[in-house]
Amino acid sequence: MFTSAFALALFAAVSIATPINQQSAFSLDESDALSVPEFASRPELFQLHKDLIQVSSLSRHEENATAFLSKYLSNQGLNVELLDSPAGGKNVYAYFGEDKNASVLLTSHIDTVPPYFNYSLERDAENRLRIHGRGSTDAKASVASQIIAAKELVAEKKVSSEDISFLYVVGEEIGGLGMVPADKQLIKEHVGWDTVIFGEPTGNRLAVGHKGIYYFQIRVYGRSCHSGYPELGVDANKALIGIMNDLLTTQFPESKLLGKTTVNIGEIDASNAANVLSPYAACTVLIRAASTTDKIAAVVDQIISKHEKDAIRIETETTQRADPTYVDYDAPGFNHTSLSCSTDVPNMLNRGFKRYLYGPGLITIAHSANEYILPDMLEQGVDDYKRLVLHALGRN
Ligand SMILES: *[C@@H]1O[C@H](CO)[C@@H](O)[C@H](O)[C@H]1NC(C)=O
Ligand SMILES: *[C@@H]1O[C@H](CO)[C@@H](O)[C@H](O)[C@H]1NC(C)=O
Ligand SMILES: *[C@@H]1O[C@H](CO)[C@@H](O)[C@H](O)[C@H]1NC(C)=O
Ligand SMILES: *[C@@H]1O[C@H](CO)[C@@H](O)[C@H](O)[C@H]1NC(C)=O
Repeated sequence: MFTSAFALALFAAVSIATPINQQSAFSLDESDALSVPEFASRPELFQLHKDLIQVSSLSRHEENATAFLSKYLSNQGLNVELLDSPAGGKNVYAYFGEDKNASVLLTSHIDTVPPYFNYSLERDAENRLRIHGRGSTDAKASVASQIIAAKELVAEKKVSSEDISFLYVVGEEIGGLGMVPADKQLIKEHVGWDTVIFGEPTGNRLAVGHKGIYYFQIRVYGRSCHSGYPELGVDANKALIGIMNDLLTTQFPESKLLGKTTVNIGEIDASNAANVLSPYAACTVLIRAASTTDKIAAVVDQIISKHEKDAIRIETETTQRADPTYVDYDAPGFNHTSLSCSTDVPNMLNRGFKRYLYGPGLITIAHSANEYILPDMLEQGVDDYKRLVLHALGRN
């Protein structure tokens, strides 16, 4: 799941608040990995998940994960094609038979955020097994459970193998650098699907969508003077503080589905001696938009123009701007959620197919220094992907 540095700080804060209880946790010998009772019902799932985590695949360094997954999928009898990405890594498109088209595309990403840490098993204070490792949640849990879900459906003869294809992309965590070119190439080759199921940690809930983003910098120019005679200058700090205060206290447009629009102020650049009025002050602002960014930007513009009289000049510069993404959530029997961070969904051109966004594991644990997943969540992921695929095919 793609997030900016600010959101990373947020996730870090959340994960600190999660009770970890390291003291009573104990590690299991890794060679026991497949003999723990929790893994008995679906050994292939837990083995694939483990194998994926044991390969380091930081964004821009995914080559070993691409190689592993290509080999795994071709061993299952799929045709595998590698699609280039400008970030260096290669995306994996896999399909059965001659036809690259399929009714349902299962897709997720194979890159992870840094730092890499390897697979390990641990029991928490309540004796629950935790599978640790970078990507254990985001998004190797989705990759493993999608593949096993498809395998089980084919083995149970509920779908024919031609019904399903797979796309596993690189570069998701750095802004869709894998999905964007992969999608362009697939469009050029006239490859299409009726339904695309995106795998990202949604807490095993069916997402209704995710917020957009409006990320910009504000630069305020004033005129310095002796702080004892402020009437001689224009205080850029004072103007910026006023703007920041308004940004943090204004009610931004919200939505029923996505909830509140949230505002975070990031870097504040206002270093100046305390006895001098500041000639310059700047800050970055990242707004998680629950409504269109046009509406959000209109509120921001209003706030800034209110403070224009307090400065010599105020500039804004947009770094990133994307409207909220809405996906389908009509499959029965799911709890729902909305996400406050970005995904690859908007990086695949919506050409009329249904889009679902679902994945095992909690977004609040993804990216943390303690990323892990519970075996139950992975297994529920398999069951839920099976239900989603059957729903997409109209066979439930
Ligand atoms: C993770 O651990 C396994 C087992 O010891 C090892 O084979 C693998 O190379 C490790 N992965 C990385 C990226 O260090
Ligand atoms: C890929 O695997 C090779 C062989 O195990 C290892 O030497 C190399 O460092 C790995 N590359 C990355 C980017 O992890
Ligand atoms: C594949 O799907 C696309 C778009 O849905 C369509 O234009 C194309 O003709 C299909 N190709 C085959 C071989 O069925
Ligand atoms: C929905 O959430 C409730 C409360 O967390 C849970 O008890 C229930 O099992 C969930 N239902 C599904 C279908 O996941």
